[in-house]
Amino acid sequence: MNNLKDKALEALSYIQERSQQFTPQYGIVLGTGLGGLVEDVEIQYTIPYEEIPYFPVSTVESHSGKLLLGTLAGKSVVVMQGRFHYYEGYSMQEVTFPIRVLKLLGIQKLLISNAAGGLNPSYAMSDLMVIEDHINLCYENPLTGKNIDEWGDRFPDMFAPYDSELIALSHQVAKEHNITLQEGVYASVPGPNLETRAEYRYLRIIGGDAVGMSTVPEVIVAKHMNLPVFAVSVITDLCSPDHLKPVVIKEILEAAHKAETKLRTLFRAMISADN
Ligand code: HPA
Repeated sequence: MNNLKDKALEALSYIQERSQQFTPQYGIVLGTGLGGLVEDVEIQYTIPYEEIPYFPVSTVESHSGKLLLGTLAGKSVVVMQGRFHYYEGYSMQEVTFPIRVLKLLGIQKLLISNAAGGLNPSYAMSDLMVIEDHINLCYENPLTGKNIDEWGDRFPDMFAPYDSELIALSHQVAKEHNITLQEGVYASVPGPNLETRAEYRYLRIIGGDAVGMSTVPEVIVAKHMNLPVFAVSVITDLCSPDHLKPVVIKEILEAAHKAETKLRTLFRAMISADN
């Protein structure tokens, strides 16, 4: 993608025009099977991705690609209903393009959800895992190419990619709502195939608690733009190398659905309590 900045500015003006200059405080990215949160949003503007200049269009059937602008728990939000994955054939710069645009639109914090495989043997299906750190195993990096200095540093540090105040807030509201939260390290792979037994063993040995095919590129770009991020994985399959069963995508979606209420409650309560 040439002229990333010009393209982002063009997408930005289109969204601003379509939403009468709506300025969201929070950005929310909804992962596979986790779209239910949109029912809690008082939607004021809906913009299909295909209308936004330079936005990629999601090719995964379980995602429907729209930007929703409105309010959630009294705060202004923009929700990405459907995200882009590297395995769909986009470059990492394209995958993360919407995050650039949301930051330019004015979001101050980004909340991300995803479906992930559980590597930590103490995890159960449909558990929520707050991501406290990650291991990036994708070979392409979204920051590759000429750096846009006004957006961020050439060499952004990854000292604390996940905002510690938002992590603390998540535990506080989870307690109030009786939601059990795991906390761990997310390993990101390009996909689209799931992992071999040997790969799951390897991912556990190097320190992963969960594995998935998204989120990390978005977090890297958010960190580059100095945007605080909170991310949570829904554990949709258990990847214990010695008891591995074939993964059925339908079962992954079912496990995600089962966790949806908890995730909705968590995000809504965090946004409500945050200031
Ligand atoms: N591996 C990678 N990505 C995933 C998995 C998994 O086991 N489950 C859900 N997303």
